[in-house]
Amino acid sequence: MMPDERAPDDELLQNVAAYGVGRIQRHIFLCADQTEPKCAPRERTLRAWEYLKRRLGELGLTTGVHVVYRTKANCLRICVDGPIALVYPEGTWYRSADPDVLERIIQEHLIGGVPVAEYRFAENPLVP
Ligand code: FES
Repeated sequence: MMPDERAPDDELLQNVAAYGVGRIQRHIFLCADQTEPKCAPRERTLRAWEYLKRRLGELGLTTGVHVVYRTKANCLRICVDGPIALVYPEGTWYRSADPDVLERIIQEHLIGGVPVAEYRFAENPLVP
């Protein structure tokens, strides 16, 4: 099979620009709306996800020079003491990521650069 050497289409490039790809400073994954809710009830994780989306938008963190990218994960495989969140590039894993904790993660880690030690249960950066 030949590699696809077409130029990327306009819609793809528009989405790259719209979501700040190229300016992403941190990426937060949140376990929410799970197929099998194990770490926390689905309603609770959806509340956390809606809060995260709203606050990142309100704070201008999805469109600025330093973008925070967000991804709703179906399950991050820890499945205890959720909602579970994960922030890269540090690879910081968080438990109990409800709105009050997410606000601290946003202010202290995503903006301030300092992980929230009280809710961090593991650290695994992908680069040395
Ligand atoms: S169900 Fe949330 S980490 Fe698995």
